[in-house]
Amino acid sequence: MSGAKTFYVTTPIYYVNDKPHIGHAYTTLACDVLARFKRLDGYDVKFLTGTDEHGQKVEKSAEVAGISPQALADKNSANFRELAARLNCSNDDFIRTTEKRHVAAVQALWTKLVESGDIYLGHYEGWYSVRDEAFYGEDELVAGPNGRKLAPTGAPVEWVKEPSYFFRLSAWQDKLLEWYDANPDCVAPQSRRNEVISFVKGGLQDLSVSRTSFKWGIPVPGDDAHVMYVWLDALTNYITAVGYPDQGGDYARYWPADLHMVGKDIVRFHAVYWPAFLMAAGLKPATRVFAHGWWTNEGQKISKSVGNVIDPLELIEKYGLDQVRYFMLREVPFGNDGDYSHRAMVMRMNSELANDYGNLAQRVLSMIGKNCGNAVPVHGEFNDDDREMLDAAHGLLHKLRDAMDRQVFHEGLEALWVVIRAANGYVDRQAPWTLKKTDPARMGTVLWVLAETIRNLALLTQAFMPDSSAKLLDQLAVTERSLDRCGSHHALKPGTPLPVPQGVFPRFVEEQPE
Ligand code: MSP
Repeated sequence: MSGAKTFYVTTPIYYVNDKPHIGHAYTTLACDVLARFKRLDGYDVKFLTGTDEHGQKVEKSAEVAGISPQALADKNSANFRELAARLNCSNDDFIRTTEKRHVAAVQALWTKLVESGDIYLGHYEGWYSVRDEAFYGEDELVAGPNGRKLAPTGAPVEWVKEPSYFFRLSAWQDKLLEWYDANPDCVAPQSRRNEVISFVKGGLQDLSVSRTSFKWGIPVPGDDAHVMYVWLDALTNYITAVGYPDQGGDYARYWPADLHMVGKDIVRFHAVYWPAFLMAAGLKPATRVFAHGWWTNEGQKISKSVGNVIDPLELIEKYGLDQVRYFMLREVPFGNDGDYSHRAMVMRMNSELANDYGNLAQRVLSMIGKNCGNAVPVHGEFNDDDREMLDAAHGLLHKLRDAMDRQVFHEGLEALWVVIRAANGYVDRQAPWTLKKTDPARMGTVLWVLAETIRNLALLTQAFMPDSSAKLLDQLAVTERSLDRCGSHHALKPGTPLPVPQGVFPRFVEEQPE
């Protein structure tokens, strides 16, 4: 693939204090869809995910579980790896922050920041939230029950007073503002970008980047009393995975990353601290950070204490993998918060997958099977209706490409469904079952137009629903599946033998009470 355009996409690395839930699945899925799409579109892709294993939060969880932090990390990291596999994710690497390669990269970055004069020794006194692994200023805190001070996220905070190394974040305020200004797309969506810029304009204080009150972290080079702040450690994973501190090889090939996908709660770390660390080390910041919204469950905030955490593996079990992949990227405009409900899931699954897409394929393929000798039909001249249908199908690639580049998955899928619905309308209007008796040659043309439309649709749904799309393409005997096969140049060849058709998108049937 030498010379191909590259695309490097990352998920946040997940804390190992917890089991994987729908939020983790969501970020990873969105990245997988992009990675698959870009690969099919001819890019040399690197898709990275992994686990964030150090810090006070993990240390405390291990204590509660009565095991070592490393044992907890080993156990839970495996669950995240398994989740990615069960979601059919195509990640090229899975990084763990307890790996040697990562410890070496973080210590090299630290040394570089000391050399550049951006890290100095001082004393921290202020608020810290273990749950968020974040420092907060007095002015950011909110009043909780009994007047207790809480982080703006609602997490408890504690007063910390200890020697600490600091990163000279205050010195990077203007450089960051210049960077946002020169790169209008570097933080998305726009609302998050505005939030980041106003936070930076509000003034940046130097950031405490080491702790002495616990041990579970990467030691500061030359000062074993300190472990590094978990976010400096964690963010560095994105360059560890491309070989930093070596700046040849994969680093030269993939860095800067094209996209860090994150949830809205961790934008500040990715769009303020991380670019500042990188600039201070003389490295380029990632091209773009996209922050998606949060899921609620049947209208309620998801939390362990409420007991309404959604297990993505249970969803896959109940509704099917591609159904869940489709639902998550279709239901909510990407970037907004969204609500998961059984009803919404079944609606999407039955009306859009089974009725719209599944039925289209099913009726066209079974008619071809019965009436065209199990081969791609022969077509004659096209009329206006045929041409309009084909143009719509052949014009989809550039629409989807544009949506993917803006990470508006829901818009991309809607563009595909406009064509699916148009194709169902075309079947009804052309009524090939009537043509069978009155004009079999015309029936062949209509069925060919439909089969060719489905070929284009199935090529384009591959990134979202890899297994189901592959089944559709198998049924059309399409072997060339990269996106440069979309369009009229590679249209189906009449007479190509086809396998026996099978349904692809089952309906969800509610269990009837006895
Ligand atoms: N370890 C840090 C990230 C370090 S990246 C260098 C972390 N981990 S996390 O496991 O707590 O969260 C990972 C992601 O899950 C975040 O992007 C967060 O936004 C996302 N979600 C957690 N709950 C969520 C929902 N209910 N809905 C959608 N996403 C949510 O933060």
